[in-house]
Amino acid sequence: MNYKLIEMQIHGDQRGKLVSLEGNKNIPFEIKRVYYIFDTLPDQDRGMHAHKNMEQIVIALDGACEFVLDDGKTREKVLLNRPDIGLYIGKNMWRVMKNFSYGCKLMVLASDYYNEKEYIRNYDEFLKSING
Ligand code: TYD
Repeated sequence: MNYKLIEMQIHGDQRGKLVSLEGNKNIPFEIKRVYYIFDTLPDQDRGMHAHKNMEQIVIALDGACEFVLDDGKTREKVLLNRPDIGLYIGKNMWRVMKNFSYGCKLMVLASDYYNEKEYIRNYDEFLKSING
C-alpha cells in the first residue's frame, strides 16, 4: 500500500500551536499546489479516483474524515482527525473520502499542478492500469 501517516512536529506554547510544512523536508516531495476542501457533508463522499503520478499529503486542519485507500489488492481505512498528522498518498492509489464531519477542513499538498488527464476516475480502468 502506497500510503503512510506522517507525524509533524508541533511548535507549541501558551499562545497556541504551529506546524510548518516544507517541501523535500517533512513533506517528501516538492510542493507545487495546495488546495483545500471545506463545507463538507457526512453523506457526500469525494475522491473516487487515483493518480497516475501525483503524490499528495492530506491534513485534516479541522474536523475529521475517513479515507478508504485501495491499491487494487487490499483496501484500508484511515481516520484523519488531527492537524499534526499528514496522510501521504503515493501514485496508483484509489481513494474515497467519506464520513466527513460537518465543517471538516482538509488541506491537500500536491506534487504537481492540476491536470485532469492525470486522473483515473473509473475503478475498472484503475485495476487495468495497475495490472499492466
Ligand atoms: P474533484 O476531483 O471532484 O474533487 P475530490 O478529489 O475532492 O473529489 O474536484 C472538484 C472540482 O475541482 C473539479 O471540477 C476539478 C476541480 N479542481 C481544480 O480545478 N483544481 C484542483 O487542484 C482540484 C483538486 C480540483
